[in-house]
Amino acid sequence: MNNFTFYSPTYFAFGKDTEKEAGHYVHRFGGTKVLIHYGGGSVVRSGLLDRVKESLAKENISYVELGGVQPNPRSGLVYTGIELCKKEGVDFILAVGGGSAIDSAKAIAAGAVYDGDFWDFYEGKQVEKALKVATVLTIAAAGSEGSGDTVITKEEGMLKRGAGSEYLRPVFSILNPELTQTLPAYQTAAGATDIMAHVFERYFTNTKEVEITDRLCEAVLTTMIKEVPRVIADPNHYEARANIMWAGMVAHNNLVGVGRDQDWASHMIEHELSALYDVAHGAGLAVIFPAWMTYVMKQDVMRFAQLAVRLWGCHMNYAQPEETAKEGIERLKKFLTSIGMPISFRELGAKEEDIPYMVKTLGLGDQETIGGFLPLTSDDITNIYRLAL
Ligand code: NZQ
Ligand code: ZN
Repeated sequence: MNNFTFYSPTYFAFGKDTEKEAGHYVHRFGGTKVLIHYGGGSVVRSGLLDRVKESLAKENISYVELGGVQPNPRSGLVYTGIELCKKEGVDFILAVGGGSAIDSAKAIAAGAVYDGDFWDFYEGKQVEKALKVATVLTIAAAGSEGSGDTVITKEEGMLKRGAGSEYLRPVFSILNPELTQTLPAYQTAAGATDIMAHVFERYFTNTKEVEITDRLCEAVLTTMIKEVPRVIADPNHYEARANIMWAGMVAHNNLVGVGRDQDWASHMIEHELSALYDVAHGAGLAVIFPAWMTYVMKQDVMRFAQLAVRLWGCHMNYAQPEETAKEGIERLKKFLTSIGMPISFRELGAKEEDIPYMVKTLGLGDQETIGGFLPLTSDDITNIYRLAL
């Protein structure tokens, strides 16, 4: 196991009606003037926004609002948010919604106390301070409610890039599984795929002797393959929603990834798809992950076979473990199809002729690679996109 530090200070309030405590927690964490940041309107239609506002009013906390965050959030609204925070003297940002609203809130939080262009942070500059961010989560997916990460798309050139900092971890996150019951089945499935992908990115490692995190990863994945079909069949299944919601947090606050090298190539490869075609990030991952797995399997066939046995109950073929590994990938594809996810470019609406453009915008130099498990060159990435056709 590698050396590591782990500091995950987010305070979680989980369960029914917890959004009514938003004001209490903002007060407790020192917010006096809040920006409520949300998406395209689902939180208005569900009445959640009103409940959150009532809760702030009860604590005499003043607020301003900024809605309109798009899925795959854009830089334009971040600039608007930064200006608003400066003008109104905002000291606390409360994101109400999914990963997109939360990531946009984190970008505003960093940009509002920085003299330069917030995009610097998405080009590698370290965040050294930020306004406090908190969340009321409405979709189990990105894990942004417990992570210090944020992903934004710069409209100019449609560049989708990430930034990360301990200053951007939410100080509190409110997770009420009931709030996810209004999600369309497709979004539920895309979110679930993202959660599984966050585990795969950590599971496929070259670090040896990481039994505890292997087993934690497998626990999250096993939970997902049990619970996701239950919520697809019955969107109001509270217990299944609850298990998925907590799995989404655990999958990405790095509890299951400490002490081991991680991969993350598939996420970078996917971000080009969601930037270009504006598809749901999880749906893009459903297309990329099986192709990536097929391409990199040779790096450690036994690790793929291990997952096939432990997750899908495949029979271990000791003479030809690659057969077991391949069966595991086939089972994953079947699972994704069964929950309504695309597994090919064609189903996603992506085009073969755009592959060179996507590889180019990833911006790798001749000697550069991405991915911690099997480093991939631009040619490898082209091959993976082609496998996904
Ligand atoms: O915008 P509204 O109207 O709220 O509708 C949203 C949106 O259309 C809708 N929705 C959310 N909760 C709902 C709901 N509709 C009905 N009922 C509800 N309860 O669902 C759609 C998707 O929402 P979004 O916030 O985009 O979803 P998600 O949480 O999957 O976030 C995706 C973004 O997160 C990034 C992705 O790249 C993508 O941009 N990621 C962020 C990460 C991080 N910060 O750590 C890690 C991830 O790997 C990921 O890259
Ligand atoms: Zn993701």
